[in-house]
Amino acid sequence: MHVREKPKFGESEITPKSAWLDRRSLMRGAAGLAAVGLLPATARRASAARYSTDAPPTAYEYVTTYNNFYEFGTGKSDPAKHAGQLTTSPWSVVIDGMVARPGTYALEDLVGPRTVEERIYRLRCVEGWSMVIPWLGVPLAGVLKRAEPAPGAKYVAFETLVRPAEMPGQSGIFQVLDWPYVEGLRLDEAMHPLTILATGLYGEPLPNQNGAPVRLVVPWKYGYKSIKSIVRITLTEKQPPTTWNIQNPREYGFYSNVNPEVDHPRWSQATERVIGGSLLSPQRDTEMFNGYAGEVAGLYAGMDLRKFH
Ligand code: MTE
Repeated sequence: MHVREKPKFGESEITPKSAWLDRRSLMRGAAGLAAVGLLPATARRASAARYSTDAPPTAYEYVTTYNNFYEFGTGKSDPAKHAGQLTTSPWSVVIDGMVARPGTYALEDLVGPRTVEERIYRLRCVEGWSMVIPWLGVPLAGVLKRAEPAPGAKYVAFETLVRPAEMPGQSGIFQVLDWPYVEGLRLDEAMHPLTILATGLYGEPLPNQNGAPVRLVVPWKYGYKSIKSIVRITLTEKQPPTTWNIQNPREYGFYSNVNPEVDHPRWSQATERVIGGSLLSPQRDTEMFNGYAGEVAGLYAGMDLRKFH
């Protein structure tokens, strides 16, 4: 992430509307959803548009080939090249720490019986680019509630899989991060209805390079908060360590809320390059909290967002 790479795409467009409509009608079919295993055929989509952006989604090809997933290498195209070898089934997630019901949950039990929703969110990367992605997922709040957080729990820590045999970026001499990749949220951020555990995108199970089989998506925070291929969720009293903060505490804080007024020490955060966007207007103004100020600004009332960046 400290390397700022230009996308290698030439002329590109946003998904043609017709293709998008086709995909959407495909998704609407119960058979289509059932075929993707983790997604119950009863998936409810109507109310999910609530928090979705109406910006046109970025073409599937870009969403799945321009990625950050350092377990598979530091280049944007490395995850698409190498993540195919990751075994994602069976998969279980440990929920532990300050909960009344700790345990190891099979992924199907964690999200399977719950309602899968489609949420179209803009992912704003700290590097200065953004994409709009139609996710499928479940609100994290429901998953946490079932584990019954203890009254003293204040934070939620997340951990990615460590499996060097299938994750080539986790061995060798060119590693830039400590493993496992870890992230954290305050409990109220984790319980916010915008925060989801995603298991799919574009109506399909998550491609491995996007964090299969389950990842976090927190749309008002920079993309790196959205940890991929999660194996552990721990409720704690203390603010947990986070990977990019460990790697470079001056540049990456715990909160990492999208904020056009607080620049990264080495570059502005006021605008963003729209991946797959029109060549005529490749930049857009970055919005406070990525467009969700109305929903989340209250979580930070009275806090100095420069200090708690
Ligand atoms: N999760 C893990 N485990 N490893 C990573 O390197 N990269 C983060 C985040 N989650 C990363 C991760 C960063 S920097 C971004 S911008 C987003 O994933 C990218 O998600 P995408 O590839 O689906 O767009």
